[in-house]
Amino acid sequence: MGMKSLFLFLPLVLPLVLADLRVGFYRSTCPQAESIILQVVQNRFNTDRSIPAALLRMHFHDCFVRGCDASILIDSTKQKRSEKDAGPNQTVRGYELIDEIKKALEAACPSMVSCADIITLATRDAVALAGGPNYTVPTGRCDGLVSNIEDVNLPGPTVTVSEAFQVFRAKGLTVADMVTLLGAHTAGVAHCSFFEDRVSNFQGTGSPDPTMDRNLAANLSKICASPNTDPTVFLDQSTGFAFDNEYYKQLLLKRGIMQIDQELATDRSSVGIVSSFARKVIAFKQSFANAMVKLGSTQVLVGNAGEVRTNCRVFNTQKRAFSPKKTRPRAL
Ligand code: HEM
Repeated sequence: MGMKSLFLFLPLVLPLVLADLRVGFYRSTCPQAESIILQVVQNRFNTDRSIPAALLRMHFHDCFVRGCDASILIDSTKQKRSEKDAGPNQTVRGYELIDEIKKALEAACPSMVSCADIITLATRDAVALAGGPNYTVPTGRCDGLVSNIEDVNLPGPTVTVSEAFQVFRAKGLTVADMVTLLGAHTAGVAHCSFFEDRVSNFQGTGSPDPTMDRNLAANLSKICASPNTDPTVFLDQSTGFAFDNEYYKQLLLKRGIMQIDQELATDRSSVGIVSSFARKVIAFKQSFANAMVKLGSTQVLVGNAGEVRTNCRVFNTQKRAFSPKKTRPRAL
């Protein structure tokens, strides 16, 4: 092989390296890590098909606050309220699945696999199980040492597309990445409280949001009328659990649930992408894989910048401070 063709070939054989993360980070320290994670996720998915949605949302909320550092997993203490307790995170679910994976990994390779990588890999596996792309994701994230309730500043469901984009751009993502990642709303649910302003009395007009299909508005209005509860409905009214491009098709039929969803089909910057993904499921899945790798590399901590927690809910340092017996050698 000539020198020129060797150079052409080289990038294909080099491992994928992203912001100091690399594919197969645990190959020597915990070779079974990825298969353990897949096994636990698979077992859970067999009995709970809503797990992919739970993990997708958790991963997004983690990465958009202080980077993908598992700061969302820290439990509040009497002294300090953590991200988990912030308004937008109150309906985030799936924490006990992360605990289960962590337990299995601590048994196999103690203190090796970070909670931040667990969220990333478990999300990847769950997306594939739901019918989405099965992508390779680089690892090597550290767990963060900080989790403050005040740091949580996530966009709400009534932000405009351009307001939402300001937030995504600040994380190094493009409009196309944002429209692609919002395709995660092809799975999972929203509580009425996040969209009921659209279904019967939009902006005080006494009528539903004109950008919502009339029949859908009437149907949602009935569901949300249930007193003293906050019911949920599928964000993708066609295939609520499956990871497919039905979300985009529904948007073109004015059947988006939240305002931000529906606006993707009308805003000039996003409508072309929505139409294209509604027609091309393979292109959507491919873009989604790429955008998830980008999302997962947001402001990551590597090397000595963080730690590998032994319990994803508690900082290691804090654990030492509060349970000295566990870490000090016993006096003879
Ligand atoms: C501007 C951006 C976004 C806004 C305003 C937004 C807002 C919301 C809201 C209000 C809910 C309903 C939560 C509930 O009722 O419990 C929701 C659900 C969800 N979001 Fe987003 N989201 C955005 C972007 C994303 C991204 C980027 C992802 C993942 C990559 C994502 C994944 C999900 C999933 C999977 C659910 C369903 C959760 C479940 O079933 O428990 N969202 N989102």
